[in-house]
Amino acid sequence: MTNLAISATGLKKSYRDKHGEKVVLDGIDLSVPEGTIFSLLGPNGAGKTTTVQILSTLIAADAGTVQVAGFDLARQADDVRGAIGVTGQYSAVDKLLTGEENLLLMADLKHLPRKEGRRKAAELLERFDLVEAARKPASTYSGGMQRRLDLAMTLVGDPRLIFLDEPSTGLDPRSRRGMWQIVRELVASGVTIFLTTQYLEEADQLADNIALLDHGRLIAQGTADELKRLIPGGHVSLRFGDDDALKEALDALGRGFVDPSDDDRLTLQVPSDGGVASLRELLARLDAAGIEPADLSVHTPDLDDVFLTLTGDQQKETTR
Ligand SMILES: Nc1ncnc2c1ncn2[C@@H]1O[C@H](COP(=O)(O)OP(=O)(O)O)[C@@H](O)[C@H]1O
Ligand SMILES: [Mg+2]
Repeated sequence: MTNLAISATGLKKSYRDKHGEKVVLDGIDLSVPEGTIFSLLGPNGAGKTTTVQILSTLIAADAGTVQVAGFDLARQADDVRGAIGVTGQYSAVDKLLTGEENLLLMADLKHLPRKEGRRKAAELLERFDLVEAARKPASTYSGGMQRRLDLAMTLVGDPRLIFLDEPSTGLDPRSRRGMWQIVRELVASGVTIFLTTQYLEEADQLADNIALLDHGRLIAQGTADELKRLIPGGHVSLRFGDDDALKEALDALGRGFVDPSDDDRLTLQVPSDGGVASLRELLARLDAAGIEPADLSVHTPDLDDVFLTLTGDQQKETTR
């Protein structure tokens, strides 16, 4: 059996305010094997940060049992803290200090001997491409540089398990890719990553396992491929030159519907697994009827489709 870096059952958390009780986590089970990337995926307000805060001992759950890095969260919180690193949604970087000073400060907090702290800071500045900026105040850093410094600070204590709360939110595409590369390198070096994100593509790119969090419940869990298989298969889009051709094609195929997003109403969507055999069959039928589509494209479902199907359309805006 593989060792679990995180195992949680029945995790619950509610907040009480003037409107009464607000359930944020409504009984969540999680298991994250060591040395893997786990992604908790959900829209704003789903409860991602709350989950990270609980698993990293920052706040207490109302119910549930949790093991983190082999320790019981309730009874061995200090041991848990010693084994993990957390890069929060809001930066821990002190912008008045230089990058190097931030790292040295962190080394002091971790009680590293001075020489060891300097060595570690130099190594991390190198690794995160911050050598040139090391002596400049962090306030002069770009968003991507600040995020890298933040992550470097988390690594000062050599954590075995790292929580990254929305590490790439607000980064431009290039910096985001840089962040993904860093995450991949971390996992290759043996650490476990617990990553929250609002970006389906990010989870798809990075995560070994994904859990979809919606309104305090996990509505689906699995690999990206498993999640994609949860929803009905894709379709083939056929575009025709004119309305008559489309009608003839619909007759010949006996199935399909007009794509409502095509203003010209000349595109037919035909349900299909997108495989070679079914494409060949489809084209053979059109051919037999003497119809040739002007354009053909195959659509296989992606995580967007999974998320929209499982959570309902009302979240389209926040998840894109
Ligand atoms: N300290 C708190 N007091 C009251 N409500 C809170 C508190 N922290 C979070 N919440 C609420 O819990 C819900 C989940 O928040 P959060 O975990 O930050 O979501 P996410 O990180 O997925 O955006 C939100 O509705 C938020 O307003
Ligand atoms: Mg959050």
